Amino acid sequence: MVVSDIILIGPPGAGKGTMGSLIDRAGLAQHVSTGDLIRDHLASIAPDDPLNARIAAGHFMNDDEITALLVRRIQDVKQRIVFDGFPRNVDQIKILDRIGDKWDRLVTCAIYLALDDDKIVHRITGRSSCRSCGRVYHDTLNPSGGQCECGGTEFLIREDDTEAVLRQRMIRFHHATEPILAVYRTRGILREVNADQPIDRVLNDIMNMVQ
Ligand code: AP5
Repeated sequence: MVVSDIILIGPPGAGKGTMGSLIDRAGLAQHVSTGDLIRDHLASIAPDDPLNARIAAGHFMNDDEITALLVRRIQDVKQRIVFDGFPRNVDQIKILDRIGDKWDRLVTCAIYLALDDDKIVHRITGRSSCRSCGRVYHDTLNPSGGQCECGGTEFLIREDDTEAVLRQRMIRFHHATEPILAVYRTRGILREVNADQPIDRVLNDIMNMVQ
């Protein structure tokens, strides 16, 4: 039987990671974030590896490298997946299609989390994540109160979460990622969600689309 997968598409800070992990916690699909895969990979290589500087500057990992990480992560997954951050360009759509053909998976819902550029800087510059479990918080929009739900009290700020790097990531989104919306629209599976609402409302909108 073919497993039907979900993808989350959106600019930096739109809430892909937040929604992916809530969908996972609700038991609807397993959250697979290519940003997280890359950060785990960076932690395992030499600090002076050029890939560190490339990602810290807001550039993409090349398609072959990210595909290798992704395949390793999902090859044994049998349940539904919610992809966060992949595909990120039109070529990666073809890669995901081939992965689907090989492992009996099909993207049946592509959710676009729409958020205006002027909201993004605030979202990103207040973000932190729990060192223990990775849960994402925001200083004012989604505060941890100094303690994560898992009990952790140490929080990390991403190296690429500076305003200058964020500008580069936004340019990459508009230039490379936005064109994938047209492909999924043509396939008839694109759904748009207003990401500029409280977290529970965004989640509710998504749940209504995928359940
Ligand atoms: P990645 O980690 O995917 O970064 P991104 O796409 O820039 O997205 P973010 O993680 O910054 O934002 P998000 O949409 O997940 O928002 P979040 O939920 O945290 O990728 C990092 C890098 O890896 C890329 O720049 C690229 O270099 C590389 N990469 C990744 N995938 C790749 C690929 N396929 N190919 C090549 N390279 C790849 O929310 C943001 C903040 O807002 C949080 O603080 C949160 O608490 C808050 N928040 C969320 N939703 C709401 C809401 N509704 N209301 C109020 N606050 C909210």
